[in-house]
Amino acid sequence: MCGIVGYVGNKKAVPVLIDGLCCLEYRGYDSAGIAVIENNQLCVMKEKGRVDNLKAISGIDDLNSTIGIAHTRWATHGKPSQENAHPQIDNSNQFAVVHNGIIENYHELRDFLTQKGYHFVSQTDTEVIPNLIHYYYQNGITDEDKFLRAVKSAVDDLKGSYAIEVISNLFPNRLIVVRKDSPLVIGKGKGENFVASDIPAILSHTKDFYLLDDNEYAVIEGDSVHFFDNSLSEHSKAVRIIEWDATVVEKNGYEDYMLKEIYEQPNSIRETIGARLKLGEKCDFDDIAITKEYLNNIRQIYIVACGTAMHAGLVGKNAIEKLCHIPTQVDIASEFRYREPIIDDKTLCIYISQSGETADTIAALKLAKSKGAKTLAISNVMGSSITREADYTLYTHAGPEIAVASTKAYTSQVVLLIMLAIHLAEVLKSAQTEELEDLKSAILNLPAQLEAVLDETEEVKNFAKRIYSEHDMYFLGRGIDYCVAMEGSLKLKEISYIHSEAYAAGELKHGPIALIENGVTVIGILTNSHLVEKSISNLQEVVSRGAKTLVITNQKLNNTNFNTIINIPETNSLVSPILSIVPLQLLSYYISKNKGLDVDKPINLAKSVTVE
Ligand code: G6P
Repeated sequence: MCGIVGYVGNKKAVPVLIDGLCCLEYRGYDSAGIAVIENNQLCVMKEKGRVDNLKAISGIDDLNSTIGIAHTRWATHGKPSQENAHPQIDNSNQFAVVHNGIIENYHELRDFLTQKGYHFVSQTDTEVIPNLIHYYYQNGITDEDKFLRAVKSAVDDLKGSYAIEVISNLFPNRLIVVRKDSPLVIGKGKGENFVASDIPAILSHTKDFYLLDDNEYAVIEGDSVHFFDNSLSEHSKAVRIIEWDATVVEKNGYEDYMLKEIYEQPNSIRETIGARLKLGEKCDFDDIAITKEYLNNIRQIYIVACGTAMHAGLVGKNAIEKLCHIPTQVDIASEFRYREPIIDDKTLCIYISQSGETADTIAALKLAKSKGAKTLAISNVMGSSITREADYTLYTHAGPEIAVASTKAYTSQVVLLIMLAIHLAEVLKSAQTEELEDLKSAILNLPAQLEAVLDETEEVKNFAKRIYSEHDMYFLGRGIDYCVAMEGSLKLKEISYIHSEAYAAGELKHGPIALIENGVTVIGILTNSHLVEKSISNLQEVVSRGAKTLVITNQKLNNTNFNTIINIPETNSLVSPILSIVPLQLLSYYISKNKGLDVDKPINLAKSVTVE
């Protein structure tokens, strides 16, 4: 869950490394560091806290080296501190390493190296890596490419997950990288090459990328990149051209990435719909070629994910069960992987992950694969780990999402899942054409409706101003509105640090109503005409106990005494979450701003959770 950057070429390395780190701060930001080779010596600079603290180290701008590695950390082993920051170096100051992931057997390796006379200055799992490289470099490797062989021998000893960059003053023009279960991409330039955990960090330098595979090594110099498999046999690798414009990773005048991404939703939804959906035509999912025979054979579907992606899955379940009549369960990935779910070759497992790197989601996918199920990944990141593991992949095409709190990725995941449900229903012939056409037209109207919702934000801003100093809030909804309540509540916790709970409105009287007292804030989502009366009754129960209420609805509400009502456009109830979540995203955003918090980088959270 850390961010790594690397550079080797003809320019000064430090500005490239620091710019890259700034783009990757969403992956961790409790310390940051760089290592370069200056006058044939390794030079390491690191500091606790944000990348800004690293930038402020005296002398960092005077470094002229044209090769370097850099890291921004989200602490796992060892508290955030200067000595635990990366790069970590070996006892002889000859090898510097940055690492994203976890070395599970580092205790053993530390003991082994200690016996061999090595000492350790940090509490990190990473520090064993440069020392192991040094150990193998010294001991018994006699062939000419000693550096790569020493890295490979060290990596062979590691258990766990890692994306690693290594430089050495013994080979001052060479950067070696390897990965397993942690992301790493290589950007190809002219006379220069770049490395990063994630494409956006180096997108301003190149659009040509190599996506490194698990257990694959790359030896990178200014004008060459050589790839090796796990036996160190060399192979060639195709360049992938990433069509994103570099401006997609800028704030474009918005105060925060989160606000920018909320406002991007009309467009990101257009991109998700792409050419898949046209009125009067079958949905186009030729890219996954799921046949009628296969689907007829399916007994159940699991949708597995974490956090916001799991909440998108809840909406997907409603769509699939309604349109396809296939029993569908939604699971939290960290639960699914350990609860011995019933999986066989008559099970389809759908995994949703914006980043495509979430460790629990990937492990849950591997589990289903090993039991013979077909696996379908839904991800926003091309070539991400999950897409390489899954039998089929669908991309959301929402564009890079930088803010830790997910917004546009959620709405794109929901749209894609509903389109997938329509597609499966068309293959199975399990729903009326009229119903499907109505849904398609609702989806095609979404971008314009979202623009309308985003044009009317005064009420949300005012409500946020009134309630931002509160300590508890409750979100209520029934059916699909309950799914949105969960996501609204998560957003609030993530970026406002306010305790909140989401409840199915009908559950209110089975416990939570005991917590409703004078002045408490309750947020109701009411978009389903069949359930609106029942939800209104539940909300009246909290109003009569003195709650302050904000209601988001697309229904005509008469004679109610809610404090604030936010009207959103009417639509098919299956797609209503895409409109009703937006005021809740904005509410969390403005509460966070009123509290003076860092919206894009909430405390303790990272965007991509590559550890268990
Ligand atoms: C982290 C993020 C959440 C995200 C979840 C799943 O917890 O903070 O915003 O929803 O991971 O991430 P994924 O990349 O798998 O969708």
